[in-house]
Amino acid sequence: MDVEIREVTAEEWPEYVRAEHIPFGVQLGDAEMKYQSQRFGHWNGLAAFEEGRIVGTAGDWDMRLTVPGGSDVHAPGVTAVGVLPTHRRQGLLTALMRRQLDDFRGRGEPVATLLAAESVIYGRFGYGWATTSAAAELDRVHGVFREDTAAGARFELLDKAEAAKVLPDVFEGARRLQAGQVTRPDGWWEQFLRDPEWARDEGGSELFHVVCRMGDDVGFACYRLKENWDDNIPQYRLFVNQAMGTSPPVRAALWQYLLGVDLVATVRFENLPVEEPVRWMLRDPRRLRTRTVSDFLWVRLVDVARALEGRRYRIADRLVLDVVDAFLPENEARYELDAGPDGAGCRRTNGPPDLRLSVAELGSAYLGGVSLTSLAGAGRVEELTPGALARADLVFGADVPPWCSTDF
Ligand SMILES: CC(C)(COP(=O)(O)OP(=O)(O)OC[C@H]1O[C@@H](n2cnc3c(N)ncnc32)[C@H](O)[C@@H]1OP(=O)(O)O)[C@@H](O)C(=O)NCCC(=O)NCCS
Repeated sequence: MDVEIREVTAEEWPEYVRAEHIPFGVQLGDAEMKYQSQRFGHWNGLAAFEEGRIVGTAGDWDMRLTVPGGSDVHAPGVTAVGVLPTHRRQGLLTALMRRQLDDFRGRGEPVATLLAAESVIYGRFGYGWATTSAAAELDRVHGVFREDTAAGARFELLDKAEAAKVLPDVFEGARRLQAGQVTRPDGWWEQFLRDPEWARDEGGSELFHVVCRMGDDVGFACYRLKENWDDNIPQYRLFVNQAMGTSPPVRAALWQYLLGVDLVATVRFENLPVEEPVRWMLRDPRRLRTRTVSDFLWVRLVDVARALEGRRYRIADRLVLDVVDAFLPENEARYELDAGPDGAGCRRTNGPPDLRLSVAELGSAYLGGVSLTSLAGAGRVEELTPGALARADLVFGADVPPWCSTDF
C-alpha cells in the first residue's frame, strides 16, 4: 500500500471531515457537511492519502494545559483520529502518530494531550492516562445539603448568544485554577454552543446555560432535560454536561440550583472530578451513585525535559529518571529533575537513576493524578534507589487531583 501522510488543504477539508466521521459510524448529511466544511482552520488536519483519497485522519487543536503549580504549557490536543474500516490494522494510525509527533517536536511542543475512544489504543505511542472522570447520579429527593451553600448566590439563565459572550471568560477563570484543564479555542465553543439536534440524547432538550455569581466566585452549568410524565407523575431526568466554578462553594451553589429544578426526579452528572468536595457537603453522600470511573485526558511528554520544567512540584527534591521511549527514541535518556514548589530544572545526565519508567507512565504522573507507587505495583515503574518511589510520589503528587472537563 502506497500511502502519503500530509496536512490537508482547504479544498480537501470536506473529504477529510467525511472520512473523519466514518470510523465513528457517522455519515454526515448535506446540512451537517455544509457546516463542517466551513470549519477549516479550527484545528490542524493531517490525513493519510491512498491514490489521492483520504483513508485515515488525525488533527490537533491549538491548546494549553494547566499544570500543577498554577501555570500552563502549550499542549496540542489531538483530535479527529480515525482510519476507514477498509484500511484498519495496516499501520495507518501508527504512521499518522509518528508524523504528528515529529511535527510536534518540530514545533517545539513540550506536551500533547488527547481523549481516547478506547484505552487500549494510545499507550504504545507514549500517551499515559492522566486524569480521571466520574459519571454519577443523584435522585433529587436525596439532594439535600448539610447546610444551605447557595446563600448569596445569583443565578442567570443565558441564551446561546449570551452564553457565547459570557461562558468562555468564566471557563477561562476556572480552568486556570484546575490542573488538567485545557483551553478552549473559539472553534470549540462554536461547536459546543451550536448543540445540533442530532447530537442530543433522543428527546433531550436544547442545552440550558446558567451562570452563578457569589462574591468574587463565578461558575456555570450547561444541562438538558428529558421529559417524562409516566403515570402522570413528573419524573424528568436532568443531564449535567458542564458544571464548574472557581471554588467549591460556587460549585455547591450550582449543584443546589441543578438539584432544585422542578419536575426533575434524577440528576445525572456526566463528568465529575472523582474527589469533588461537593460530595462531602451532601447530607447522604452515598446517594450520589457513581456509575463509571474512567480515563479522560491522556498526556504525552513530547520533550521530556521541557515538559518537566513546565510544572511546579509539591516538595523540593532531586530525582534521576531513566525514561524509556520506544516510539520517540530521541526522547529516551536519563533525566535529572531538580524539582521544587517554585519551579524546576531538568537536564540529561549519566548519573545513577532512581526510577526507570516509560514515557507513558511519566505522562500519567505528570499532572499529579496517578501515583508512581501504584504504577510500580503494576510492574510499570522500577525503583532503582530504595525509597525513591515514595519521594517521587511526594514530588509529583497534586493537592487537588487533576481534572479535565473539555471534550475534544
Ligand atoms: C483506532 C484506529 C484509529 C486504529 O487504526 P489502525 O490504522 O487500525 O491502527 P494500526 O494499524 O496503526 O495499529 C497499531 C497497533 O495498535 C493496535 N490497535 C489499534 N487500534 C486498536 C484497537 N481499537 N483495539 C485493539 N488494538 C488496536 C493494532 O492491533 C496494532 O497492534 P500491533 O502493532 O501489535 O499489530 C481505528 O481502528 C479506528 O478508526 N477506530 C474507530 C475510531 C476510533 O476509535 N478512533 C480513535 C479516536 S480517539
